[in-house]
Amino acid sequence: MHKILVTGGAGFIGSNFVEHLVRETDASVSVLDKLTYAANREAIDALPEGRVRLVVGDVADAGTVDPLVAEHDAVVHFAAESHNDNSLNDPSPFVHTNLVGTFTLLEAVRRHGTRFHHVSTDEVYGDLALDDPERFTESTPYNPSSPYSSTKAGSDLLVRAWVRSFGVAATLSNCSNNYGPYQHVEKFIPRQITNVLDGRRPKLYGQGLNVRDWIHTEDHSRAVRTILEDGKIGETYLIGADGEKNNREVVETILEIMGQPTDAYDLVTDRPGHDLRYAIDSTKLRTELGWEPRFTDFRAGLEATVAWYRDHEEWWRPMKDSVEARYAEAGQ
Ligand code: NAD
Ligand code: TYD
Repeated sequence: MHKILVTGGAGFIGSNFVEHLVRETDASVSVLDKLTYAANREAIDALPEGRVRLVVGDVADAGTVDPLVAEHDAVVHFAAESHNDNSLNDPSPFVHTNLVGTFTLLEAVRRHGTRFHHVSTDEVYGDLALDDPERFTESTPYNPSSPYSSTKAGSDLLVRAWVRSFGVAATLSNCSNNYGPYQHVEKFIPRQITNVLDGRRPKLYGQGLNVRDWIHTEDHSRAVRTILEDGKIGETYLIGADGEKNNREVVETILEIMGQPTDAYDLVTDRPGHDLRYAIDSTKLRTELGWEPRFTDFRAGLEATVAWYRDHEEWWRPMKDSVEARYAEAGQ
């Protein structure tokens, strides 16, 4: 696979994946990205021009998508509206990008016989009880809760149907919560780090006891590349790094790393329909394709992430006040 089209390649995880491809392979990469509020154009502009081309456009626009897909050997589809809280305020762009966008890409790869990898989330499975010994596996039934997770679930089902009905050569992956550089300050970990840098207190929804299963974005990127290269067509792989932590533990660790008292946070209005717990069993990916996470020390990964936000204030500063103003309106 020499010519790879990465949708959403200017986003948090997409830009990390593009950087990973440039560093670890000799592929020539095109990025198709609408450059929404969530995009990091700087992350793509910093890469060698001869290796990466940026096409600004919408994945739901067949006129843009079809000729672009025709020029590539493979499409890796990251583009999405990705934030649950936004999906509760206005679901419409989630339906457009996550559902219509995925449909538009599937029609193009069907026409051109192009290899397709669909990037999705563990949130399609709904949530687990805090004391449930089970974790999500590839056979857990779909049960999404929010407009975000339901549109991602719908996009996964479209991909599966296009494999079965039309023989599209696709694989799917569902990953747990990512952290790392270039994550938008609306998301949990960057919001709390930049709050502390700004002299504000971290904000925990509800009692802060909801559990997320954290993975470093570089481990996610390497897993996606492994599946793209060695995955079996039609198969789904769950990606996770055994990183379960409740939100309070994460905030306490951030406060400790940043030299603050570990109880210097506020409990704020809970998210409606807030999923209790996500947890991934990634045995299939590990045993069948030999992938293992490398960022296994969460505290060390968080320390590096805190350092990154400390050093890149010019990147997050322009977004911070408007994000906090939006949260303040919701009592969060
Ligand atoms: P992000 O919001 O940081 O980036 C999304 C990117 O998609 C942005 O660059 C944006 O400009 C682009 N985009 C949005 N709408 C578009 C459109 N209509 N056409 C073209 N480009 C468009 O998202 P992220 O956190 O990097 O997530 C990337 C993918 O990984 C998503 O599919 C998401 O569901 C999935 N995922 C994310 C996580 C996580 O923790 N962030 C976990 C598992 C899976
Ligand atoms: P988020 O980063 O929005 O990811 P997701 O909803 O996809 O899991 O949130 C992660 C967790 O942190 C989730 O349980 C909601 C919670 N949260 C807070 O407690 N405070 C915050 O300010 C934010 C943004 C999230």
